[in-house]
Amino acid sequence: MTTPDTAIASPPATTSDFHPEVVAFCCRHCAYAAADLAGGLRQPYPSAIKIVELPCTGRIDIVNVLHAFEDGADGVLIAGCVNGSCHYLRGNLYARQRLDYIQALLKEIGLKPQRARMINISAAMGVQFAELASEHVDTVRALGPSPLRGSVRKEGKPA
Ligand code: FES
Repeated sequence: MTTPDTAIASPPATTSDFHPEVVAFCCRHCAYAAADLAGGLRQPYPSAIKIVELPCTGRIDIVNVLHAFEDGADGVLIAGCVNGSCHYLRGNLYARQRLDYIQALLKEIGLKPQRARMINISAAMGVQFAELASEHVDTVRALGPSPLRGSVRKEGKPA
């Protein structure tokens, strides 16, 4: 009998068996609203996208991203306001700098830096959110499952 953990750790038999999981850290003022708009417009985007709402992408911490990968994500999307439109002035610029560092860290630990990406959109860009989110899921799907999938201890995590 297989347990969920062993099922996750098993490599997919074919590429089509691979269903990536992408954590999308979305700024409440723009990307989260854009994702909401995409839903309202019936603009589909992959169910692989798991949205985490943030007050601003400036709140993203490197640890948040690393925990997402530890918890089984195959990719991460950071979605913030358009440059010059951050409600906290420079939060999205700080997030961009952190992304550069995160990508370097991913490379260091053997993950492709392309697994993490940042986009800048406005609340009115629901269609673009769906397109860019789908594009990132396609990129992650092409990269295959994260090597960290199922390899990190689940100690202390709820079943
Ligand atoms: Fe949206 Fe800062 S408020 S990125």
